[in-house]
Amino acid sequence: KKVVLAYSGGLDTSIILKWLQTEYGCEVVTFTADLGQGEELEPARKKAEMMGASDIFIEDLREEFVRDFVFPMFRANALYEGLYLLGTSIARPLISKRLIEIAEATGADAVAHGATGKGNDQVRFELSAYALNPDIKVIAPWREWDLTSRTKLLEFAELNQIPVAKDKRGEAPFSVDANLLHTSSEGKVLEDPAQDAPDYVYQRTVNPEDAPNEPEFVEIGFEKGDAISINGQAMSPATLLTKLNELGGKHGIGRLDLVEGRFVGMKSRGIYETPGGTLLLEAHRGIEQITLDRGAAHLKDQIMPQYAELIYNGFWFSPEREMLQALIDKSQEHVTGTVRLKLYKGLARTVGRWSDQSLYSEEHVTFEDDAGAYDQKDAAGFIKLNALRLRLIAMRNRRLKG
Ligand code: ARG
Ligand code: SIN
Repeated sequence: KKVVLAYSGGLDTSIILKWLQTEYGCEVVTFTADLGQGEELEPARKKAEMMGASDIFIEDLREEFVRDFVFPMFRANALYEGLYLLGTSIARPLISKRLIEIAEATGADAVAHGATGKGNDQVRFELSAYALNPDIKVIAPWREWDLTSRTKLLEFAELNQIPVAKDKRGEAPFSVDANLLHTSSEGKVLEDPAQDAPDYVYQRTVNPEDAPNEPEFVEIGFEKGDAISINGQAMSPATLLTKLNELGGKHGIGRLDLVEGRFVGMKSRGIYETPGGTLLLEAHRGIEQITLDRGAAHLKDQIMPQYAELIYNGFWFSPEREMLQALIDKSQEHVTGTVRLKLYKGLARTVGRWSDQSLYSEEHVTFEDDAGAYDQKDAAGFIKLNALRLRLIAMRNRRLKG
């Protein structure tokens, strides 16, 4: 039997690779994706080779990740529980999709991942996998093995000649998941939500207090809801997000300290850094301000929490997520134009926006002479009929009071 393992090259998934071979007795194919986590992938190949993986897949998925997952999600301005930009949640369906495709290509009947039995990621990996192949078998070693402590894991590694990086010998300081959209850190020193996170937890943003004393301005161009350029220069989706990450990181933008409700029931505390995504959300809202009709804007804002929750809970490949996506995509038809952001000490603010598809009419809104564009007398009847219900209620209340 053959299994495709989502392999990072790190200690945990290396132990899983060996465990699948020795305890499960199966051939292991490894799959390592470059999602912009900022780590070299060649060491993962070397390690997988050394440990006798029967096939090794290493792929750069950065463009697909941003174009087909991150950008569609940003059209919705998706935030989970009001704050979380879903950086880990949105990456899992893509990894699962490739696991399933590789399983089909190599004749494997199972896939495996390194997520624990306590978290959201197991749910996301597996719901996506089953949605794409209803017969696939899933192996989640963390839910099965008896390597229940760091000590046992290290013993297993030693016993099986799995290289353990020197600094990994002790307790890992915390658990990190990184990609082009964000870095998330959980566990260990972060487990007491009453305590501020130590500075060394932050990996891709400077402390806002140490950010440049001069503000920086950046112009982001949009077409149909997707960012296409920075300061007038057209860029591919992954190149653009990489550039926004540099800008945001330098100004200390996109840090979040959050206690969130996991799908499996418990609350967990995480530190998130989403520098480019934070700029993108602000700019996207900026361009929607002038290009989206109020009715369209308010409707998509109403469904946003539900859309975000679907992604958080692992239902990317579900009919309801696709239905909401169709609604959101339809709303973006005229979301084209440019937004100017001001970046300064941890904050990104929209300070200008323009579009040839704008709905903003200075002629109508001006406090100066509008040359007859708008007849203020029309507002009297508008208010009178809207007030009718309220007046009838007030009359009844007066009558009842005696
Ligand atoms: N809590 C975040 C989520 O559910 C991140 C989970 C993975 N992060 C990690 N550091 N292991 O999307
Ligand atoms: C894990 O448990 O593997 C990471 C955290 C999560 O999935 O929520």
